[in-house]
Amino acid sequence: MSGLLKSSIGRKFAMALSALFLMVFLLQHFAINILSVFSPDAFNEASHFMGTFWAVQYLLQPVLIFGVIFHFAMGFVLEIKNNSARTVKYAKNNGGANSTWMSRNMIYSGLFILIFLIIHMIDFWVHEMNVKYVAGDMSGLIDPSNVESGFRYFEELQEKFVPIWRVALYCLGFVFLALHLLHGFNSAFQSVGANNKYTKGLKTFSKIYAIGLPLGFIIIALFHHFNHH
Ligand code: HEM
Repeated sequence: MSGLLKSSIGRKFAMALSALFLMVFLLQHFAINILSVFSPDAFNEASHFMGTFWAVQYLLQPVLIFGVIFHFAMGFVLEIKNNSARTVKYAKNNGGANSTWMSRNMIYSGLFILIFLIIHMIDFWVHEMNVKYVAGDMSGLIDPSNVESGFRYFEELQEKFVPIWRVALYCLGFVFLALHLLHGFNSAFQSVGANNKYTKGLKTFSKIYAIGLPLGFIIIALFHHFNHH
């Protein structure tokens, strides 16, 4: 593994693999969150399952945390290595002459997503960890002493999207996510060697994913802001 990460192509390959893994996570994250728009009950059931099933908590969650940290860390390494790869800087590095604007700015869109993610973790994940593992309440109920009180997840979600500043910040994060995905998707396929006759189909799919998914997240955030009761 360390040998793989010593070569430039190895690092790009590892970066692409971690990116593909995060894209799968994002798709399932969206699938569960979009339930909150159609059925609070379905969202509550899915959240409770994900939040209490041991394999999700103790296997998938640590793998995800590793994947996120690896992707960010490797992103910074690639950025630094790319910049120092040539001792003489390009005389001119503007326009779409040899790279697109977004491909040169993956690090900036990535940084904004990192800021979003830190805020997002404080908003939801830290709270979950506190309730479940610090306070020791695994019930998922609004009132743990009353089974009739119902699950707390949907209410807590809607509560978070009341302040317009958070909705705006999240939506800005989703726009950056779209930009990041648009370039990242293509570059990931390139790095794992999927640049062949299937590329056209992959490119169409990646555009739908890169624009559709963040758009879906925007709809979720706006929906809860305007439908809070
Ligand atoms: C409207 C959009 C979104 C909503 C409503 C939402 C909601 C949530 C909720 C409720 C949790 C807590 C899960 C738990 O730990 O019990 C969570 C965790 C998380 N979210 Fe989101 N999310 C949204 C968008 C995103 C996006 C765009 C990303 C990535 C760029 C993201 C990344 C994560 C990650 C990494 C976790 C931690 C997963 C874990 O280990 O539990 N989320 N989100």
